[in-house]
Amino acid sequence: MARILAIETSCDETAAAVVEDRCHVLSSVIASQDDVHARFGGVVPELASRRHLECIGPVVAEALERAGTTLDRIDAVAVTSGPGLVGSLLVGVCAAKAIAWSRSLPLIAINHLEGHVRSPFLHTPGIPFPAMALVVSGGHTALYRCPEEDVYELVARTRDDAAGEAFDKVAKLLGLGYPGGPAIDALAEAANERAFDFPRAAMKDGSLDFSFSGLKTAVRVRAAEAGLVGKGREGGEPVRDLIASFQRAVAEALVDTTARACRRDGIRTVLVAGGVARNRRLRRALDEAAAVHGWTVYAPAPAHTTDNAAMIGEAAFLHFERGRFASWDLNADASLKLGASPSPAPAAPRPRASGPTRSGR
Ligand code: KG4
Ligand code: ZN
Repeated sequence: MARILAIETSCDETAAAVVEDRCHVLSSVIASQDDVHARFGGVVPELASRRHLECIGPVVAEALERAGTTLDRIDAVAVTSGPGLVGSLLVGVCAAKAIAWSRSLPLIAINHLEGHVRSPFLHTPGIPFPAMALVVSGGHTALYRCPEEDVYELVARTRDDAAGEAFDKVAKLLGLGYPGGPAIDALAEAANERAFDFPRAAMKDGSLDFSFSGLKTAVRVRAAEAGLVGKGREGGEPVRDLIASFQRAVAEALVDTTARACRRDGIRTVLVAGGVARNRRLRRALDEAAAVHGWTVYAPAPAHTTDNAAMIGEAAFLHFERGRFASWDLNADASLKLGASPSPAPAAPRPRASGPTRSGR
């Protein structure tokens, strides 16, 4: 039995979790910064890092307390080292290094995207491979082929905006608040999603890459034509129809590309993760595609879709079990890639003689 303390601060959530044996989440604490960034309609990096600094200590302490444990009973410390906002990442990396060093615990560096891909495993540990993983969040939109556990091959990525970013920007344009995804999801329900016919991007070079900036511009043009810019909820049915049509375009683009990749590679296990995986229209599109293509779709529980540390803890077990530890000079890497060259972090000088699977409790 092993326990990992995981820390996640890549964007605007300060999160810590204690995870036991891969998928038993003993605690998962998330301090959201939505109140800090809402009036700016997006994340302000300097404010995010400052809030992380204020929250990281209490959040880690609360995660340990809620798990009914102490650092004496932790076997490793895992942290998101990238990608993300560098100032935000640094707070988590520094905290994790300090805790691990002071307690002579191994340190594990986790790619935030690996955390998202692994998030459905918290709920369903035995998901079969090969799998296609669609990661759709505020900072990232990418499709990874996973021929087996612990292998990630980048199949497609966004050429411009991430899907969640498009939700946030459209919501900001229309005066629907931040974060935009949940607001659009709720308001679009029962609206006419065929009221506007928005374009779907297709790459000229035949790649599977996504693009959402053309769609965002089309929404801006139609909103201006219809006098809906900044109208907010008072815009009534026309605003609801506009966002429902936008939402349909995003969901269909994501699912069409996933279907093309799955068909090409003969894959029928589909993972969907990240904040936008909460979107009900997307989930419905995935369910419909699953019925047509014979897929089984795995998604995280709602609490594990948006940024959290439990998914970082789950992913960390793959590294822990393989003895892949980070060195003490671990740094934050804002543009860390997943899948391009899966190179493990250099082995750390193990400060403690006992092995990574320290047991005895
Ligand atoms: O995974 P996440 O917490 O952060 C990143 O790693 O970027 O995702 C946050 C994003 C935001 O853009 C938010 O608007 C979007 O996820 N989101 C949603 C929904 N809930 C959150 N988008 C569409 N529908 C939702 N229900
Ligand atoms: Zn994320």
